[in-house]
Amino acid sequence: MHGDLGQRGAGVWTLAMSAAAGRRPPRRPSPPPGPRGHWLLGSLPDVQRDMPQTLLDVTHEYGGITRLRMGPVSMYLVADADLILEMIAKRPGEFRKSSRTRASLSGHLGNGLITLEGEEHRRHRRRMQPVMHTQRVAEQADTMVDLTRRRIDMWPDDSVQEVRAEMADLTLWIICTALFGIPPPDDKAGGEAEDMVAAVHAFADSLNLVLRRAFPIPAWLPTRSNRLRRHTVGIVDDLAYRLIRERRQAGTGGGDLLSVLLSATAEDGGPGLSDVEVRDELLTMFFAGHETSAAALTWAFYLLDEHPEVNDRLRAEIASVLGDRPATMADLGRLPLLGQVVKETLRLYPPAWVFDRSPRHDLLLGGYAIPKGANILFSPWVVHRDPVLWEAPDEFRPERFIDGVTPRRGAYIPFGDGPRLCVGNRFAEAEIALVLATMLPRVDLSRVDDTPVRPEGDATLRPKGGLRMRVSRR
Ligand code: HEM
Repeated sequence: MHGDLGQRGAGVWTLAMSAAAGRRPPRRPSPPPGPRGHWLLGSLPDVQRDMPQTLLDVTHEYGGITRLRMGPVSMYLVADADLILEMIAKRPGEFRKSSRTRASLSGHLGNGLITLEGEEHRRHRRRMQPVMHTQRVAEQADTMVDLTRRRIDMWPDDSVQEVRAEMADLTLWIICTALFGIPPPDDKAGGEAEDMVAAVHAFADSLNLVLRRAFPIPAWLPTRSNRLRRHTVGIVDDLAYRLIRERRQAGTGGGDLLSVLLSATAEDGGPGLSDVEVRDELLTMFFAGHETSAAALTWAFYLLDEHPEVNDRLRAEIASVLGDRPATMADLGRLPLLGQVVKETLRLYPPAWVFDRSPRHDLLLGGYAIPKGANILFSPWVVHRDPVLWEAPDEFRPERFIDGVTPRRGAYIPFGDGPRLCVGNRFAEAEIALVLATMLPRVDLSRVDDTPVRPEGDATLRPKGGLRMRVSRR
């Protein structure tokens, strides 16, 4: 039996898709069009060489839905904003995460929000939502600012820093302190944070290795990456369970997110989360919540360096509102250009640049046949650069987001949409804005070479080879 997204939408998305594709879907359902590629491997070599560019290229050539042959399997890239919205927000029950994604992530993350489905996902979501509530996030603002200032203090004047790695450390400090209440590394009690930061970096590297593979390798095979996974997961597990145990013994007081998570019960009064469930959610937040924000900050520094006139205006705005004092959450509403720069950075370089779903039954999508269980990819990176949706999509124009101008739903999806909308979106937006508002008045960051920067599609979208910048104090 076919579910048919193409017919039920009154043709709106079929039209939008056809306009972008320059072609109409066939009368009789057939698979979507796509490149022939290598006779055996299909598009696999292109995807492995440069996946972000390949996704843009095939969308340009084939339009709203493309079939990409990857060796023996096919992937379907859906670039049509309305079809994506239909799948992730309007009819999410008919899709799940692909088995490939679940298999790749669950060895590291267990059963947390990212990997859970259906009723279990809803149950966890109800318990996690209060943890990321605006008020809770606001309580972490001072931590975010304080840790940013400490990071700046660690940079010698006129030194060259690899900004991507620096931001990854900083955002991980922020998560450690905000989630676990662990003192940052240079505090007397801070050895624990250093251990945690090192362990989580190793954990994230090992997970990225799994995600980078074209095909999943069974967890029981004695490969080097499986051994690495067991090792890094073991270390992070020990740390996480110790923290949970200590916090349960001490009672669940304290303002950090771990205490909120441990005492989280649903609004319906149902049971809270077990230790294993809390562990899975903590590691999920570590993974989902630090490299993404770090990538966004790295791109923001890159874009501001490329656009000194925006950088100057932004610094003037921050100076006029803050003077010499540290930024607070309340200030963010008074810094409109800062908000626009954050949004435009997330549009041009969305850190979560690709995610997927899999239909629970055979599907007609915009008139094309997609089999049950297929791997359907969406890419905010591709949608955000669609010239039908965005004027001059490749240009950095923060004023697109000037007050009152909201992109139409589906056109701007850095945090996804629907029931799986990023649970940390408010945390991330506040974090990125507060780090920028703290750094820009204190330091100049400028690139040390002018070789073109290319985005690399790893677990997050990041500058290939990192981003080396000179730090000069102001
Ligand atoms: C700029 C930073 C971030 C970006 C661009 C981002 C993006 C996303 C996107 C696109 C999704 C939806 C994926 C899907 O529908 O399959 C997502 C989900 C998620 N994000 Fe984020 N995220 C960011 C920061 C964070 C932070 C700081 C946290 C936590 C502290 C976080 C935790 C999560 C979790 C737990 C999910 C899974 C939600 C669910 O499936 O119910 N993210 N994120």
